[in-house]
Amino acid sequence: MRAPSIIHTEESINYAWKEFVTRDDDVFNVTFPKSGTTWLQEILTLIYSNGDPTPTKTMYSWDRVPWIEQYTGKSKLENRPSPRLISTHLPFRLFPKSFFKTNAKIIYTLRNPKDVCVSLYFFSLIAQFMEHREDFGEFVSLFLSKQMLFDGWFDHVKGWMELKDSPNFLLLQYEDMIKDPKGNVIKICKFLGKDLDDAAIDSVVEHSSFKAMKENEKSNYTAVPDYIFSKEKGSFHRKGVTGDWKNYFTPEKEAEFEKICQERLKDVHVALT
Ligand code: A3P
Repeated sequence: MRAPSIIHTEESINYAWKEFVTRDDDVFNVTFPKSGTTWLQEILTLIYSNGDPTPTKTMYSWDRVPWIEQYTGKSKLENRPSPRLISTHLPFRLFPKSFFKTNAKIIYTLRNPKDVCVSLYFFSLIAQFMEHREDFGEFVSLFLSKQMLFDGWFDHVKGWMELKDSPNFLLLQYEDMIKDPKGNVIKICKFLGKDLDDAAIDSVVEHSSFKAMKENEKSNYTAVPDYIFSKEKGSFHRKGVTGDWKNYFTPEKEAEFEKICQERLKDVHVALT
């Protein structure tokens, strides 16, 4: 599996897979990159603070809901009190083995792969550690190739959908979250057994909005130095919309992409909007 070497090592990935000890009350925020990871980090933090924005304003998102597979994962998570909020981009085949003996919960956020591809194109322009192609068509080919990170979008989704019908697995869709943020926060609370009143739910929605997060320096990655994220080339919170792919895919590229989508997802029952 490929992963950016600036934050991952073989050891850190093996630790996540083979040694990490999952607890019953762990909550995993699972995504393929650019599908809504940071958004869920914010929502989960706010749900667990009962809508109080203090933790989202005082701690970096990557410390609040750290990635297990990154080389800092072990030190950030091993001794953390429960309940732990944990992010991961790992494909299902490399997910912590210990999870399967617990009642821990997984939230998987899915996003239209063409929008993921566009988002990743712009992210790879600002993130200096990412492989980039100036030409968008060439980037699409990279996205569809075996070179793609975390086993690539198709195998990521295919692998994770094996858990689709498990009671401790919640499937969210980025597009639904855009349409109905409050309904999705309520759905997440229900899944997690968190009983927030209406004012707390409204506060979660308000403080996890695109605008609020873009302005929150603990979530918008502006604190990361320029040699890692070049601020002059763009911002992490780029557009936060659905269907932006229409502005970048030519009809030919779209047809090629759709054909591959149909072939590679033929055994997977996911509705893509
Ligand atoms: P765009 O590049 O399309 O704007 P991830 O966190 O998985 O890396 O995903 C990043 C994508 O999610 C970016 O998409 C970013 O703008 C979007 N995003 C982040 N926070 C969001 C929010 N609160 N609402 C909607 N989209 C959000």
